[in-house]
Amino acid sequence: MEFEIRESLEQDDVDAIVIGIPEGVEPAEACDARFASTVLSLVASGDLPLKPLETLVIPGKPKLIFIGVSRIADAEAWRKAAATVLRRVKKASSLAFSGGDARSIVEGALIGSFSVEAYKTTNNKPSVERVLLVGANSKAREEGRVIGESINWVRQLVNEPSNRKPPRVVAERAREMARAAGLDADVLDEHRIRELKMGALLGVSQGSEEPPRVVVLKYTGSPESKRLLAYVGKGVTFDTGGISLKPADGMEKMKYDMAGGATVMAALRTLALFQAKVNCMAIVPLVENMPSGRAQRPGDVVQSMSGKTIEIINTDAEGRLILADALAYARNLGATHMVDLATLTGAARIALGPFRVGVMGNEQSFLDAFLAAAKRAGEKMWQMPLDDEYRDLIKSTVADVANSGGRFAGMITAAKFLQEFVGDTPWIHLDIASTAWNDDDKPYLPKGPSGVGVRTLVEFGLGFEG
Ligand code: BES
Ligand code: MN
Ligand code: ZN
Repeated sequence: MEFEIRESLEQDDVDAIVIGIPEGVEPAEACDARFASTVLSLVASGDLPLKPLETLVIPGKPKLIFIGVSRIADAEAWRKAAATVLRRVKKASSLAFSGGDARSIVEGALIGSFSVEAYKTTNNKPSVERVLLVGANSKAREEGRVIGESINWVRQLVNEPSNRKPPRVVAERAREMARAAGLDADVLDEHRIRELKMGALLGVSQGSEEPPRVVVLKYTGSPESKRLLAYVGKGVTFDTGGISLKPADGMEKMKYDMAGGATVMAALRTLALFQAKVNCMAIVPLVENMPSGRAQRPGDVVQSMSGKTIEIINTDAEGRLILADALAYARNLGATHMVDLATLTGAARIALGPFRVGVMGNEQSFLDAFLAAAKRAGEKMWQMPLDDEYRDLIKSTVADVANSGGRFAGMITAAKFLQEFVGDTPWIHLDIASTAWNDDDKPYLPKGPSGVGVRTLVEFGLGFEG
């Protein structure tokens, strides 16, 4: 999709012109003077104003597409409006936006044109090829493009069926992306993983025919700084639960159990292309969690890279096991600050529903800065407690810690487990289990991978040194 900037729309022959009408603003005042008479008659006939994300199409050449833009006429509102238009528009190959926040419109247009129908042999390709932006600046356009493409990179990888994305393949995709974005990439294979004694990760991986990988991407945008931010993402390419097998109903969705991993890699891509002044790594442990004659059992004890021993109570609590080793590895590589993202618990959905990301951490000032970045980025998150008492729920009789804490406070006990492996390094954990996959169609987002987290990680990375 091409994005072109224009001073005005006079010279161009586009198929459709999009006119956003912000809520609470007199429609005739919200749009270009040349549409004022049309708008006044639509107001008179009661067809305008519109509720947010409602559209009204006036046929013609060009046709006019009016869309209601939420009163918080900020980046998020324009992003959703643009994505909605791109999802609804039919038979138009060129579109012009007559106003609004350019960066958000570009981002929204890219997000709205993403198709989840990758493997339909009669794939309906989105029709829009050219988008004209009136009065935009090229920096805003480029930023919108990079971030929109990064979010779609995550969604495409998350949407990929698991037979087409074993750990080897995800690592290869990461390498290709890193090359194109100018990132350093290191991929650990099963031999190096064994040398590093990542026993918790290897325990999860041993049931699968597919060997594990650990991807490390690095971007050095602030060479004089001693600070190194590590983004660590869960990369379970398919989660059957292992011997603690999941029910068949809905298991197909467990292809999205690598969303955290894809998200941290896309954040690095974006920071590199933005030439952000930050030193940052993405670390992604990649495994497939399968039951088999070689699979780990409940009751097994493994030794993590940190040296701590773990009793496996439930082989379906595998994400925290691979993250234990990835977090320890991040510290070994010199991380001074860590943020991990994981589709970690069903309990996240119970606690917060599909609307907010659960956030926990070990240092309030670091958390506050992160939550402020999430707010600026327009991603909804909510901090959960992480008191010492919750540690009691993951005591083991035979080992240092148990990998499951039973029924209570499942999202928190999972974070408490991870905390065992971060030492005194400032650390934040995001549970994206309920937000990384969108279960119902929304006007601006189809059912499927959401790409949640990319925007916040980028926003936080940009402000990290400042
Ligand atoms: N990948 C799942 C968590 C999940 C559940 C993500 C639903 C998305 C949707 C994770 O590995 C898991 O199975 N967690 C268990 C932990 C339990 C066994 C302690 C869970 O939440 O049931
Ligand atoms: Mn699981
Ligand atoms: Zn999982």
